[in-house]
Amino acid sequence: MVKNKILNKLRDRKSYFSGQDLSKELGISRTAIWKHICSLRKDGYVIDASPRKGYLLKKIPDLLLPQELERALKNKKIGKRVIHFQTVESTIDIAKGLDKRSDGDGTVVVAEKQTAGKGRFGRSWVSPKGGIWLSTILHPVLDPLEAPKLNIVGSMSIVHVIRDLGLEPKVKWPNDVIVNGKKIAGVLIHMNAELDKINYLILSMGINANNNLKSLPEKVAKNVTTIRKELGKKIRRIDFAVDLLTELEKNYSKIFDNHFDSLLNEWKKLCITINKEVAVESVNGRLKGIAKDVDQYGRLILYTKDEGKKLISSGEATILK
Ligand code: BTN
Repeated sequence: MVKNKILNKLRDRKSYFSGQDLSKELGISRTAIWKHICSLRKDGYVIDASPRKGYLLKKIPDLLLPQELERALKNKKIGKRVIHFQTVESTIDIAKGLDKRSDGDGTVVVAEKQTAGKGRFGRSWVSPKGGIWLSTILHPVLDPLEAPKLNIVGSMSIVHVIRDLGLEPKVKWPNDVIVNGKKIAGVLIHMNAELDKINYLILSMGINANNNLKSLPEKVAKNVTTIRKELGKKIRRIDFAVDLLTELEKNYSKIFDNHFDSLLNEWKKLCITINKEVAVESVNGRLKGIAKDVDQYGRLILYTKDEGKKLISSGEATILK
């Protein structure tokens, strides 16, 4: 793409790049160069244009733009293709609507803002500007029974990047990331499967990064936090997203390299749900019991008074004691 070529030329040059040199090096007219400069400015890049000196890239926006993510990522699969939106209803709907043959394994859909973000259990997920809202399409060759493993992969990827920022994240079954007792991020899995085969899976992550909590209803806001709030400063979201997708690829591959157990053990050590009395809301209704452990598929092992041992693949756990 010519636009990216211009961007990279400006990026590599610390001084002004003359329009004439750019036009010569890229074999396009100066008017065409100007058009691409305008388009880059529209994307948020701050580019100074001086009639005598040429163009100077002054600022790269902290937006999750495909050219920035794809450039920084060294992954083989995840993020090789990034589809970016300023505003979208939900990245999940976009991911679901893509042709899974061409937009296959590892395509990431990202939005600066969602107007109808989805949380678990049909809840809405408030997604203003400043957060990190993304969905990744995956084609794992796995038994559908193993899909909950992706919750562990997703939440641990977030945990590792948040920890590198100096915070102390914990996890709550099945997929919440918690800092100082409050939810900082969530993971959501959508699966399209047959009895014995996953056709595709959409792994979505919502991270409260630099966003303001004011847009949340008061009842929700008191249980939620952001990276910005915990650190007392904003982060560079693009760096976070690059680290996150790098971690995601690394942890995802653990499922297939027989290293998933070590990830699961790490997750268990951080889990605030295990060994607690909990109430679990799931498709099968509400169950109360002791959350004893999580099995090798990421299912919660719950011991109930009336029905004994129960294995729960997905649900919402409230810690009672
Ligand atoms: C949860 O309820 O904990 C899961 C929240 C998942 C939110 C993310 S943000 C990106 C993607 N698009 C959505 O509409 N939801 C997920």
